[in-house]
Formats: sequence, C-alpha cells, structure tokens
Amino acid sequence: MKVTVSVIKADIGSIGGHIQPSRQLLDTVASYVHDQGQKLLIDSYISYTGDDIAILMTHTHGTGFEAIHKLCWDAFMKGTQVARQQGLYGAGQDLLKDAFSGNVRGMGPAVAEFEFDERPDEPFLFFAADKTDPGCYNLPLYMAFVDPMNTPGLMLSPGMSNGFRFIIMDVNHTEGDRIIELNAPEDLYAIATLLRDTERYVVESIWSRSTGDQAAAVSTSRLHNIAGKYTGKDDPVMLVRVQKNFPATGELLAPFAIGPYVAGCMRGSHQMPLMPVTLQSGISYFDGPPVVSCAAFSMHNGKLTEAVDTFAHPFWDTVRVNVSNKAIDMRRQGFFGAAMLPMSELEYTGIMEKLKSLDERFQIRT
Ligand code: 13P
Ligand code: 13P
Ligand code: MG
Ligand code: MG
Repeated sequence: MKVTVSVIKADIGSIGGHIQPSRQLLDTVASYVHDQGQKLLIDSYISYTGDDIAILMTHTHGTGFEAIHKLCWDAFMKGTQVARQQGLYGAGQDLLKDAFSGNVRGMGPAVAEFEFDERPDEPFLFFAADKTDPGCYNLPLYMAFVDPMNTPGLMLSPGMSNGFRFIIMDVNHTEGDRIIELNAPEDLYAIATLLRDTERYVVESIWSRSTGDQAAAVSTSRLHNIAGKYTGKDDPVMLVRVQKNFPATGELLAPFAIGPYVAGCMRGSHQMPLMPVTLQSGISYFDGPPVVSCAAFSMHNGKLTEAVDTFAHPFWDTVRVNVSNKAIDMRRQGFFGAAMLPMSELEYTGIMEKLKSLDERFQIRT
C-alpha cells in the first residue's frame, strides 16, 4: 500500500517566553486535527518540542496535498486564537501570511513529507528540533548515510552497499528551489564541502541507490527568507525510514551523541550544542540549549503504533550532561568570537541598525 507521511509544525505561542506551548493550545490543535481530519487522514500524532507544535499525519494523498496542508494551517489558526486568549508569548509567531494559499511551504510552518510503498514492517523516525535551523541535521545525516565509521550497515548490509543519493538545497536562494544531487560514496568530498556550511546548504532528502526509495525528508524553510527579518528560528523537522535497505535506528541516533555545535539558541544568534531530549521537552538555559527529540514508530496500512521515545533511554543522560557542560563553557565567552553567529546570519536582526548609526560616527584620521 502506498502511504504518505507528512509532518507540519509551527510555533503559534508559548508560556513564559519561547519555552513550551500550553496544554490548552495543544488540546485545541489536536482536537481540530482529530475532528476535521477524519475523512482525510489514516492516523495522526500531535507533539511538541520546545515551543513548536508538530502534526504528524499518515494518509494516501501524496506529498504537498492541499487539503492536508490546509487542515494544519487551520488547526494552527484555531490554536493561535487560543494562544491570544491565554496571553501566550508570540501567538501565531510562525504564521507569516494572512491567508492560506494552497501549500504551507513558504508561509512559515515547517514541512517534511514522503510517500512510499509501505514495507511489511515499516519502522521510521520523526525528529523535531527547536532553537536551531535545518542545517543541524547535516552532520547526523552525513554520518548515518555515508560514513562506515558510524554506520557499519554500509559494509554489512547488501541493501545499502550501493550508497545513497543526497538532494541538497541552497537555502539562500529565494527565487525558487536551487538544488544539487550528489551520490555517496563517490561524491563524498563534494557532499562534505557543502554540508559544512549549515546556514546555506541543507540536506532536503536522501534516496536509496539500490531501490530508488526515499529514506529521509527534511524541512528546509528559512523564516527570514519569508519575512525579510528575524521572526524566530526555523526549528526543523525530519522523517527517516530505517532498517533493511536504510540505516538501522541505532545508526541514525548515534551521531546525536556528539552534541555538535549548531546555530540558534538565544535570539537565534548563537552557536550552542544540540541536546537530544525526551519527547514533550521544553526549553530553559539561555533560551536553549538547542534541542532535538526523536519519536520512533512502526505502522501497518498507515496506522501508527504508539511513539517510542528514543532519547529517553538512560544512555542519553550522560550525553545531556556533556552537552550542558559544553553549553556552559561556550556561554562563558558571551558575545565573543565563535559564540555568536557570523554577520551574514545576524543581518536580519537589529544589529544592522546599530552598525549603521555607528558607521556615521566613524572618522578618517588625517
Ligand atoms: P535484527 O537482527 O534484530 O534485525 O538487527 C539487525 C540490525 O539492524 C541491528 O542494528
Ligand atoms: P523560537 O524560534 O523557538 O520561537 O525562538 C526564538 C528566540 O529568539 C529565542 O530566543
Ligand atoms: Mg517561539
Ligand atoms: Mg521554536
């Protein structure tokens, strides 16, 4: 059976700053999707990571289907009313357009979706990150899909031995999708060259070269490209099919033990380590640290099992301690050097006005 998995997420308001949504807000979104999605959806799962609410859906309508996107847009609009009534911070933050126009892409919410022939056993992972941007997945995806040091399956599993095709997007190009296709392993150095620049080049999807099946789908929106100014970080979602011809679940999770430094955290303007957290985790230290959650599912005819919380395992407690220490260490240097993002990323924030007014006060000494 051909099944589509779609996840659409947005920040539509949260309690106490950019921390986490209210129970009433979540319930509003969940019951709207449940009631209005009855004919459209096979199954759905609503969750939050930091201040972002994600609607995960299974259905048979393919990717980019208008009614599915509209369902989520309307659910977020409904939620925004509640956020306003409750006085939540940043009510409707990610809804950047006034009226729905066919597809939530380019309107603020993040979207990742793929369609595939369901396998007899169909395990997949749903990642959601807050206080960072889509480039945060570049390193884990590189390690999981091209590096036998991380993924022994590239050597051991016949279904993976032909490698994977990466579609990488230049997210600075705003006049349309500027993409490149590169094949691992032969384009390894080219893939690494692009993926090191996480603010510009982002993995959009990954495909098996043995079967042609899609393995991964990542949301690639840059909110400042839509709004023209800083309106919050892009807080990306990602779907990854695992096992058999794809990396094993453990091979996908392992890279997150690094807690790599990523863009984001306070005012979206810093470099801070990415912390793997349990499902339904909020935000704290320095509007961060950037967090990532991962729900594992199996499905049959599009019907989902319950979510398993992959980062709840005791192993990740040590990782969280390491990431906390990295975060505290980095914060000791405040605004200095590598702690903040380069000017190219800050140009969407208020710092430009400050620099402009200072520029007029500069004098050339004679
Ligand atoms: P199973 O033999 O349990 O399927 O495990 C294989 C595997 O992929 C472990 O990483
Ligand atoms: P969000 O993008 O998660 O709303 O965070 C915005 C921010 O500036 C936090 O400091
Ligand atoms: Mg927010
Ligand atoms: Mg957020």
